[in-house]
Amino acid sequence: ARFKLLVKNARQVLVICNKGEKYLTRANGGDIDIHIIQNASVVVDSDGLIEAVGPADVIESEYSRVSFDRVIDATGMCVLPGLVDAHTHPIWAGDRVHEFAMKLAGATYMDVHRAGGGIHFTVERTRAAAARDLLASLSGRLERMRRAGTTLAEVKSGYGLELPTEMKMLEVMEEARRTLPIGISSTYCGAHAVPKGKSVEEATADILQVQLPALKGRMATGELRVDNIDVFCEEGVFDVPSTRAILQAGKDMGLNVNFHGDELHPMNAAQLGAELGALAVSHLEEVTDQGIAAMARAKTAAILLPTTAYILRLAQPRARAMLDAGVIVALGSDFNPNAYCCSMPIVMHLACVNMRMSMPEALAAATINAAYALGRSHTHGSLEAGKHGDLLVIAAPRWEHLIYQLGGHQELIRYVVVKGDVV
Ligand code: NIG
Ligand code: FE
Repeated sequence: ARFKLLVKNARQVLVICNKGEKYLTRANGGDIDIHIIQNASVVVDSDGLIEAVGPADVIESEYSRVSFDRVIDATGMCVLPGLVDAHTHPIWAGDRVHEFAMKLAGATYMDVHRAGGGIHFTVERTRAAAARDLLASLSGRLERMRRAGTTLAEVKSGYGLELPTEMKMLEVMEEARRTLPIGISSTYCGAHAVPKGKSVEEATADILQVQLPALKGRMATGELRVDNIDVFCEEGVFDVPSTRAILQAGKDMGLNVNFHGDELHPMNAAQLGAELGALAVSHLEEVTDQGIAAMARAKTAAILLPTTAYILRLAQPRARAMLDAGVIVALGSDFNPNAYCCSMPIVMHLACVNMRMSMPEALAAATINAAYALGRSHTHGSLEAGKHGDLLVIAAPRWEHLIYQLGGHQELIRYVVVKGDVV
């Protein structure tokens, strides 16, 4: 038999889960417990799936007659699962560096949005952009994410807010999914803002009667694969009734419910997510205790985005209260023109320092729990036999260096592997 890859003699292999768990929580009062093997090796088969993970001497004797396309000697280094970024907006034209200056001078996110900037600014530029240019910038951004260790990223549409541009974004996403060496979970986010000149009711009707039926047709022919549906549920954006209607319609089409909620104002979005059986709700800076309890019961993951609170100087999401209540906590970069961050190691660092998560909690949140939030934890998020051979080799004697070091990760991350291929 021929195998793709052997990573041998690592000081530590961060398996994360070892019993086929779909997520890790503190449900029974215990700490999040990630599984680590010292002096270990990983074997990836010819299909790019993990064949074996175990003590280096055991792997060496069991696979002594096998030939590998590639062998990485990880002596003195650590192996981690590829990171999963559960929330990104990487398809757009035109940056918003000028708005960064406005926000530093005291403007809030909603001040800029109401003045016609923010998402509206990006929508104008993205509507005018050619698909090939959007694909080129997307591919550069995904490459930066990959170099920072992300091997599966959620990617949202949502800078079109009308049929032609939303479809253009989804087509660009589909092309990226088929051709780029990184996993993509695709999200239709046509309800990212209410387009200028329309009411919430008009925007909701356009999504329900025009955009979603068109999307359904394109999915039925296999032209597009879309995994999730998202809405920005917020005061002055989509209210709770319109959010509910759009998410329910997406769910009826077979999409996973995964949306923006309780960010700037408490809207009971967490409760809505739990009620709809959402896989995840993102942001949650303003979630209530009742919302936390509802998410824990419903196994709706909380996707926390430390860059947003940091850049907008918002209250930090209450990660500790969520973890202590047994919520499945995941992390995302929220890469977008407001929060320009491609790096999950920086996100984990911020989660630990600003949100008081422990390093094992942050790593679980950026691997198995992020995969769960995307409905992918049966194939991604840990180094278990049968899952995708997505992993990182870092040049450090302990895995915690990935979080401890603030930036400069290109030096630290020696190899990024997607489905057994060094990328
Ligand atoms: O998750 N809150 C809404 N959406 C994004 C911001 C998008 C933008 O400002 O372009 C977020 O932070
Ligand atoms: Fe977002």
